[in-house]
Amino acid sequence: MNAIPPKKLFIRTYGCQMNVYDSERMSEALTGAGYEAVDTPDDADLVLLNTCHIREKAAEKVYSELGRIRKLADEKAERGGTMRVGVTGCVAQAEGEEIVRRQPLVDLVVGPQAYHRLPSMLDALDAGKGAQVVTDFPTEDKFEALPRRARRALPSAFLSVQEGCDKFCAFCVVPYTRGAEFSRPVAQVLAEARRLAETGVREVTLLGQNVNAYHGEGEGGTCSLADLIRQVAGVEGIDRIRYTTSHPNDMDDDLIAAHAELPELMPYLHLPVQSGSDRILKAMNRKHTADSYLRLIERIRAVRPDIAMSGDFIVGFPGETDADFEATLALIDAIGYAQAFSFKYSPRPGTPAATSEQVPEPVKEDRLATLNDRLRVHQVRFQEACIGRVMPVLFEKTGREPGQLVGRSPYLQPVHVYAPETALQQIVPVRIDAGFPNSLSGTVIGAMSPEHA
Ligand code: SAH
Ligand code: SF4
Ligand code: F3S
Repeated sequence: MNAIPPKKLFIRTYGCQMNVYDSERMSEALTGAGYEAVDTPDDADLVLLNTCHIREKAAEKVYSELGRIRKLADEKAERGGTMRVGVTGCVAQAEGEEIVRRQPLVDLVVGPQAYHRLPSMLDALDAGKGAQVVTDFPTEDKFEALPRRARRALPSAFLSVQEGCDKFCAFCVVPYTRGAEFSRPVAQVLAEARRLAETGVREVTLLGQNVNAYHGEGEGGTCSLADLIRQVAGVEGIDRIRYTTSHPNDMDDDLIAAHAELPELMPYLHLPVQSGSDRILKAMNRKHTADSYLRLIERIRAVRPDIAMSGDFIVGFPGETDADFEATLALIDAIGYAQAFSFKYSPRPGTPAATSEQVPEPVKEDRLATLNDRLRVHQVRFQEACIGRVMPVLFEKTGREPGQLVGRSPYLQPVHVYAPETALQQIVPVRIDAGFPNSLSGTVIGAMSPEHA
């Protein structure tokens, strides 16, 4: 028997859902290599920072965080222990060797395509080899090389189906940090969905930087996201499907039809538009117009009138005038987003827009505040429109108050109710009694349906 206690692994995750998914998979890979996940870096044997490069000063923030980790590592060394430190994710990809040069504390630098090599990189460190840096895009498939999915506490899970991006929006680093578009084969996705279902998962969110560009190898040829969703819907135990993030130009008729046809496909769509001005959209290299986006949403709403729209907006892109910004506000009013994310443009080195003349910071600040006010009006309107409705809620966890449970509506809103814990992991009809800016509260009505009880 091997009586060695597990080593402590701490992972801090930044950025998008793909990083959340990657952190889970790394944690699973390292559990197989003798680690157990812990909640604090203080006494960890291995600390991984799974980083994001999308925002300004992303790399600088990682270096400051490494400075803080260094203190913990020094304290651990004084106690006679060792703390290994790794940087993974998109900053690792962008900075590579430079990280080890600037912060010699770092033992591992691993790009997003090479996580499956972590256990062997740790072995190399044990063998006394120096810092390990892997930022190439290895030819072997990391998804295949990672271990099977572990048992999960929550009934909803992320499932990466596509990575990378070929769109090259003028502001964005993702095509550089995540590389070219790549879709996982259908059989692999289905196997992972089945495995998740066996571990109690009922809702999967199919992930990709550009998920609706999915074109995985399937039986009889290439399979679209719509076809993939149909097949995942057929997996026993999977009752709810979501997907994110989509590009307007890849929203084809078949995917729209899937929203009409599949009860499993939830009526919530994150479809970033970035700006409502055609001039700015052109400068951003978005390859769609405000009008084509509006018409697209009309088509989606024609088949799924209750769909909740979500989006991303950038204010202060180089060259944005007051009139361009007004066009963005007008688009927001025309769509009526249930939820949205807004950002000040931040020049990312290496992207085409970074060297253009910048909009002054105070103008960006003002526009962001105005935009957020406008988004909030629509969000509150959507929340209030839910009051009195009955909706199926998938209960995920206990709430802060005793006896309280928290679940998700079909529109991704957190819903609070008082109900017994037996309702956890169940999909239960709830009457919505009150709407708040970011959540709803309600009352369980009737019995749970037999298949869900
Ligand atoms: N793949 C997704 C998300 C990309 S990053 C998509 O195509 O929509 C998430 C969001 O960050 C983007 O939609 C955009 O609104 C914002 N973003 C990306 N780069 C940015 C930059 N340089 N400055 C400000 N916001 C940015
Ligand atoms: Fe970035 Fe544009 Fe690709 Fe989205 S579609 S990841 S914003 S380049
Ligand atoms: Fe950030 Fe990389 Fe995701 S840059 S948003 S973690 S793809």
